[in-house]
Amino acid sequence: MTGVAIVRSGIGIRMSISDSPISNLTSEKRLFGTLNVGSKVDSNTFTNSRGMKVSILTYGGIIQEIIFPDRNGILADVTLGFDNLKDYVSRSPYFGAIIGRYGNRVANGRFTLNGVDYQIPLNDGPNALHGGPEGFHTKVWNAKEIHDATTVGVELTYLSPDGEMGFPGNLEVLVRYTLNNANELRIDYSAVTDKETVVNLTNHAYFNLAGAGNDTILDHVAWIDADRFTPVDHTLIPTGELQGVKGTPFDFTKPTAIGANIQAKHEQLERAEAEYGGYDLNWVLNRPGDLTAVAARVTDPKSGRTVELYTSEPAVQFYSGNFLDGTLAGKNQLTYSHWGAFTLEAQHYPNSVNHAQFPTTVLVPGERYTQTTIYKFLVL
Ligand code: GLA
Repeated sequence: MTGVAIVRSGIGIRMSISDSPISNLTSEKRLFGTLNVGSKVDSNTFTNSRGMKVSILTYGGIIQEIIFPDRNGILADVTLGFDNLKDYVSRSPYFGAIIGRYGNRVANGRFTLNGVDYQIPLNDGPNALHGGPEGFHTKVWNAKEIHDATTVGVELTYLSPDGEMGFPGNLEVLVRYTLNNANELRIDYSAVTDKETVVNLTNHAYFNLAGAGNDTILDHVAWIDADRFTPVDHTLIPTGELQGVKGTPFDFTKPTAIGANIQAKHEQLERAEAEYGGYDLNWVLNRPGDLTAVAARVTDPKSGRTVELYTSEPAVQFYSGNFLDGTLAGKNQLTYSHWGAFTLEAQHYPNSVNHAQFPTTVLVPGERYTQTTIYKFLVL
């Protein structure tokens, strides 16, 4: 029995399809679009036996869709994005993308390694955000389909040349996305360098468990296994301290509606976005590096759709889509409202390169950077 739901046909040409009779996992590759420079971008789509479907683009390693049933079996696409390449290239706020070489902000885009100063081009006021303007979210990755008895997926590789976006060292990066029949979308990242450098990779999927484009996520209930967060200055750079969540709007140690305290008067909430406020901070996980522990869980009570985060990383950036403002039309021409999604970006702390007391993001030749993050989908 396969029970695989093919929700709608894609754009472009179907190039290959494979199906394992043992696992009922299928994969399909098609052309998603062509960049102005002529590079072809493919979409790799995976389905499992429980009706879950995930598509990954070779452009930016983007998670383009995650289709998942609710408690009544009704399918919805729970991640924000576009159905054409042009929008991803011209106006995407990192929808679903691999972020690299350096997740979140680096103060003034500057850091020093072994006495040498490096400068990342600035793209967020005085700071560099998400690896600079031409970070990994803008690259076309090489792709290879992977398929075994229990998973189906794609292995993406990219060679970031020495000096790209100001970072030292040729960095060979490998990202494997896999889906299994337990509704786990697993991301395994690894990287090696030929010169001492810094690395902090993550994925920037935006979720709305009611379905992308369906109102705000204020009714979603979040739990984050973190007693502390890294407070930020007015440019969203961590001050270097860790602050307790107790008694603040950042306390998600008990399941709490995202909207419950999002407009509370708190300097850290207001700093997140001058006009509207909202969550945009780095939570320090209580069980860092424990891939078997649930690090965060968010549920949409209406549909029951739930995502759990498991990660090898020490922290997670929980962002409530503060910069979405209803002007972006995404897939199926649905617009994305302010607070229309949340992210769970598993990562090392922002600006760790400039805070010796934070867990290190330095990678030296001969060692391998690894990080694993699992988004597990379930219905509660
Ligand atoms: C991260 C940042 C936010 C914002 C989004 C993308 O979550 O912390 O401030 O830049 O990425 O818009």
